[in-house]
Amino acid sequence: MIEVKNLTKNYGDRKAIDTLSFKVSKGEVVGFLGPNGAGKSTTMKIITGYMAPTSGSVEVDGLDVFEDPVEVKRKIGYLPEIPPVYGDMRVIDFLKFCSRLKGVPGKTMNSAVASAIEKTSLQDVQKRMIQNLSKGYKQRVGLAQALIGDPEILILDEPTVGLDPTQVVEMRKLISSLRGNHTIILSTHILPEVQANCDRIIIINNGSIVASETLADLAQSQSGTCRIGVQVARDVEKAKSKVSLVEGVKHILINGMRLDIEMSHSSEGIEAVATQIVESGSGLLEFRIESSNLEEIFIKLTSEKETSMGGVQ
Ligand SMILES: Nc1ncnc2c1ncn2[C@@H]1O[C@H](COP(=O)(O)OP(=O)(O)OP(=O)(O)O)[C@@H](O)[C@H]1O
Ligand SMILES: [Mg+2]
Repeated sequence: MIEVKNLTKNYGDRKAIDTLSFKVSKGEVVGFLGPNGAGKSTTMKIITGYMAPTSGSVEVDGLDVFEDPVEVKRKIGYLPEIPPVYGDMRVIDFLKFCSRLKGVPGKTMNSAVASAIEKTSLQDVQKRMIQNLSKGYKQRVGLAQALIGDPEILILDEPTVGLDPTQVVEMRKLISSLRGNHTIILSTHILPEVQANCDRIIIINNGSIVASETLADLAQSQSGTCRIGVQVARDVEKAKSKVSLVEGVKHILINGMRLDIEMSHSSEGIEAVATQIVESGSGLLEFRIESSNLEEIFIKLTSEKETSMGGVQ
């Protein structure tokens, strides 16, 4: 669906991204991670045709972003880092304006705008001037314009920045409701966000890709171990002794009625642990595979010494 080939962008003598290549399949939700200045926004600006690369190419559905710019833009909803809103317009008028720009047919314009307003919970402020809205609401307006016309592809640069916790949850629900029919690339610094939303993670550092895998594969390839958090209703010691029989279990810690299990990462092993707990009769209340070490993996992969490209800021 999206194919990025050898993308390089120099700003003067500063190399922002260096021969990036990756593919995103139809229906995939890809999380774009990387420290400040890694090149995430630069890559997104090029994919959406907002900025030309120094070299390399991007194809969307087989079309070159720079040779077929109008056709490609029709397929993409883009939320840039700074929401592209006109302060002196009212929310609803701005969204109608965006639908006209996107070529939404006049007949369906009102319903397209209403649906974007509903998805981003903007009903209460739709008549207000954008410049008077709080930061989070401006962000929601930016998101609403990206959703107008129900584009096949969504490129969202830090979509949850400035949103309150309720809206972050709404955003998560929105992304999962779009999953399957839409192809989504989103960048964020909130790692649990990626864990909740993304099929695959691309980590970029100093303009180069340092990882492009599913979260589970990343955890396995980086550490080879996984952690499972289990809550039982009773007989925690019995559950522990049963789990300790499973091959690959390295360490079990009891904390009240909770077991924290560290083990070699394998789906057979995880299944065996679940079976043992159920068979122990301890009353399984919760079973969670902790992927919190994404933070550790991120720090490890992005704290490698700076490359010859120089510093980042
Ligand atoms: N218009 C510009 N002119 C010069 N340098 C730029 C410009 N835009 C970005 N850069 C540089 O390119 C590099 C990549 O920036 P980019 O904005 O893509 O990073 P990012 O990964 O989106 O970071 P953040 O997490 O802070 O949003 C940085 O070193 C940045 O200083
Ligand atoms: Mg950015």
